[in-house]
Amino acid sequence: MKDFDQIIGYKKVKDELSKIADTLKNQETYRALGVRPPKGLLLHGVPGVGKTLMAQSLIDASGWKAVTCRKSEPDGKFVTVIRKAFQKAAESAPAIVFLDDLDKFANDDEGHRNSEEYVTVQSCIDDVKSLDVFVLATVNEMSCLPRSLTRAGRFDRIIEIHPPENDDAVQIIEHYLKGKVLADDLDLNTIADLLDGKSCATLEAVMNEAGLMAGYERAECITMKHVVRACLQTVHRMVLDNDVFSAKIDLASPCRDSFIVCHEAGHVVTSEVLAPGNVVLVSSKGRRGHEGGFVQSRQKTTVSSYQDIENEVIGVLGGKAAVDIVYGELDMGAADDIDKAFELIRSLQESVASTGTLLHVYSEYRISENAFFAQESSAAAVVGLLYQKTKAILFEHRDFLDAVAQTLAEKKFLLSKDIARIREKCPSMNDERPCSGRAV
Ligand SMILES: Nc1ncnc2c1ncn2[C@@H]1O[C@H](COP(=O)(O)OP(=O)(O)O)[C@@H](O)[C@H]1O
Ligand SMILES: [Mg+2]
Repeated sequence: MKDFDQIIGYKKVKDELSKIADTLKNQETYRALGVRPPKGLLLHGVPGVGKTLMAQSLIDASGWKAVTCRKSEPDGKFVTVIRKAFQKAAESAPAIVFLDDLDKFANDDEGHRNSEEYVTVQSCIDDVKSLDVFVLATVNEMSCLPRSLTRAGRFDRIIEIHPPENDDAVQIIEHYLKGKVLADDLDLNTIADLLDGKSCATLEAVMNEAGLMAGYERAECITMKHVVRACLQTVHRMVLDNDVFSAKIDLASPCRDSFIVCHEAGHVVTSEVLAPGNVVLVSSKGRRGHEGGFVQSRQKTTVSSYQDIENEVIGVLGGKAAVDIVYGELDMGAADDIDKAFELIRSLQESVASTGTLLHVYSEYRISENAFFAQESSAAAVVGLLYQKTKAILFEHRDFLDAVAQTLAEKKFLLSKDIARIREKCPSMNDERPCSGRAV
């Protein structure tokens, strides 16, 4: 297990890899039982999730020699490199051929699935079948590979590596913070929430960037503020010039900036009323190329119920409704939200015939013009109804809306903990009476 110690978290994957390493190290044990040890393993997942690290650990743990093959030569010449790698492994068997980033072997668009490189890999795998040669590959994008290459018999094991979650993410963040000077306010769970769904490589880059930011400021230690700013810059691609955090936003004067703050506060309030703790981060400044701010919510892991989707629509409409209530103005920045609300309702109508309009058609190609208009007008009616519910929630929790907007205008971004603190102080959020505006 020692060789897998450098992989943090991923217990199930490590267990699987150590079993495979055992089949290579102790081949006789398996052969004595009359079983054939696996001949190949393919690890796939988005870039930066640790595929190469895991493959290398498996090589180390197996004790077998390895011949590594990465795309190094221009198309045409690379075929020879592939053949030589397999040949070398065959000569020094037992050995591993390690094909790193196999999806890069040919040009990485789908049109090259039958390229010479893949055909060569395929025939080389078949050629070494009877020898003690184990074929190990990593792939970022499985759809680039021809299906024949990944069929059973060529790679006995195919394992998908996901970005780290929950405890794994916390452990990896902790690892990348080791040796750095940290402030007491650093909260690993909040950082893991901020980086949910991101690869290990991104986690590493953000922790390092946070350290650099502390250095630029000549700060004594890395604080939560540095980590959040590093996330905004690295993950959300925000341009962090000095104005981003120092600009004054006066909510009393209706202007673009105050509308944006109010809009984002509206999303936060509707979201938090219906699913407390759902918002991870709200920013009054947008990602590169985007005008408004944004809200990052917790990623859903379960399939949504009808009620969940209605609540999601209310969260989406919260921005527009807040600007409507607070400023009595039409929110010009809500076009995408309205599209999203319609999209969610249409998907409900199409998948579960939620409004009954599509009970009589079962394919979009067979939908009649009349059925289409019926569907569109019922979607508009549902979105209209949910917009009223959204406004009712905001009216009922106006104290929370004003407090979130005010704090966001001052701080420019808020984390889940800041929102929880604001919520505690708002009477409407601590009222035991049933919420009349809540979606039912
Ligand atoms: N589970 C992990 N534990 C520790 N470090 C990891 C882990 N996964 C990835 N890393 C680190 O993240 C970076 C990217 O990993 P890499 O193996 O190159 O990813 P991939 O091959 O999937 O693109 C490397 O610095 C690697 O050491
Ligand atoms: Mg790699």
